[in-house]
This record gives sequence, C-alpha cells and structure tokens, in this order.
Amino acid sequence: MTTYERIVILTGAGLSAESGLDTFRDQNGIWAKHNIEDVATPEAFARDPQTVLDFYNARRRSARHVRPNAAHVALARLEADFPGSVITVTQNIDPLHEWAGTKNLIHMHGEILKALCAHCGARKPWEEDLTVDLVCDTCHRAGGMRPDVVWFGEMPYRMEEIYDALGACDLFISVGTSGNVYPAAGLVAEARAAGAYTVELNLEPSEGISMFAEAIHGKATVVVPAYVAKLLNS
Ligand code: OAD
Repeated sequence: MTTYERIVILTGAGLSAESGLDTFRDQNGIWAKHNIEDVATPEAFARDPQTVLDFYNARRRSARHVRPNAAHVALARLEADFPGSVITVTQNIDPLHEWAGTKNLIHMHGEILKALCAHCGARKPWEEDLTVDLVCDTCHRAGGMRPDVVWFGEMPYRMEEIYDALGACDLFISVGTSGNVYPAAGLVAEARAAGAYTVELNLEPSEGISMFAEAIHGKATVVVPAYVAKLLNS
C-alpha cells in the first residue's frame, strides 16, 4: 500500500448503525418515519418547537445509551497510531467517535449532547430533554433552547477547516454515508481535486461511488478494522 501522510476521514450514520442508532435513508430509517420539513429545519422550530425538540429528545436518549463499536475504535486507533495526521469529519451528532478516543474531530452537523440558545448563541453540554419553556442561563431569555445540531438550510460547522484539510490530504476515506447531503457529499470531490486517493467503506455503493478510486462494501465493524489494520501495517 502507498505511504500516506495526511488522512481525512468522513463518517456518516452507517458507522453508528451497529451501535444501535438508526440511519436516515435505509429502509425503516429516520426519514422513513419523519418528514425532514417537520423536524429538521429552522422553519419547523419556529412553527412547532416542541415537535422538533421531542424528535431530538428521543435521539439524545438513544445516543446516551449506546457504545462505540469496533469501527469507531479502529478509527480512533488509526488516529493514535498513524505517523502522519488524521482528521475525522463526522456528519453524526452522536458522541461515539469521542467516546472511542478520537480527538482530532469535527462534528460538522453539530452534537446532540449540546444545547444552543437561538437567542444569544451560547452553547452548553446538555444530557436531559429540552422543552420550550427552558430559560437560557446565559441571556436569561426563554424559548430559544434548541439542540446544537445543524438543520437543513443552515451552514455546517467548521467548513473552512474542513476544506483546508481536504486541500492538504493525500488519502480520503468515507465511511457509512450515503452521499446524499451536501456539502458533506461534495467533500470527496475536493479531496480528489487535491490529488488524494479516495476510498469508500460502506454497506453498499453510495451516490458518490464514481468519485472513489476504491470501494470496499460491507458492514463497518468488519471492513473498517480490516482497512485500518492494512493501513497501519503498510
Ligand atoms: P444515510 O442514512 O443517508 O446513509 C447511511 C449509509 O450507511 C447508507 O449508504 C447505508 O448503506 C450505510 N450503512 C448502513 N448500515 C451500515 C453498516 N452497518 N456499515 C456500513 N455502512 C452502513 O446517513 P448519512 O449519509 O450519514 O443530516 O446522512 C447524511 C445526513 O443526512 C445526516 O448527517 C443527517 C441526514 O439528514 C442532517 O440531519 C442535517
């Protein structure tokens, strides 16, 4: 295997599926049971905040009770043991990367275990349910406490850092994402344009399959540890 120096990893819901968290677009996925427009947009929060909060309250409860799987652990090991740099960019709002030990991590779609005050922008760790009557302890206004997640129509976090990392990477690995949601789905093209080798590790071919130089299809807990072992032993 070629020797690489700078790796960017992009992860999605398929990585956490075997930890027990639902994906979005698989059969029986989250978007088969809920309309995006009703629960994951700023307009939905303005129209019916409690429905939006309830949707994320349920997801926060699930996220608190799951554990990292072998694929999260392998990616954390890659970061720890790889002699070059490794940056992990995740679309997942669950805490499983950090619980597995990954440190150089960008949660581009936010974090379910944090709350954000829509009035003043304050962010805070949050483990309990959010309700519409909560008062922000920074600005003391009620009604603005929302999950610190990025909704459709909002800009994902830390995009400048992500594009900088892509511009400098020589290996881009995409794990467990269907490649449907931009800008995340466009990151592989940026990496390719920078000359990086691109690899997809997913249960099935993603929407962006043609952008990848190599694809390994299978369950994350099987293909990710195997791929990481190969990288570290090369
Ligand atoms: P999706 O649900 O769209 O895609 C999950 C991908 O993981 C699919 O291609 C599955 O085939 C694959 N998969 C399922 N189980 C797997 C397993 N055990 N091992 C490996 N792969 C598996 O989820 P994302 O691509 O992450 O955004 O979705 C992207 C964004 O769309 C999310 O961050 C979320 C959602 O709407 C927002 O809410 C803003």
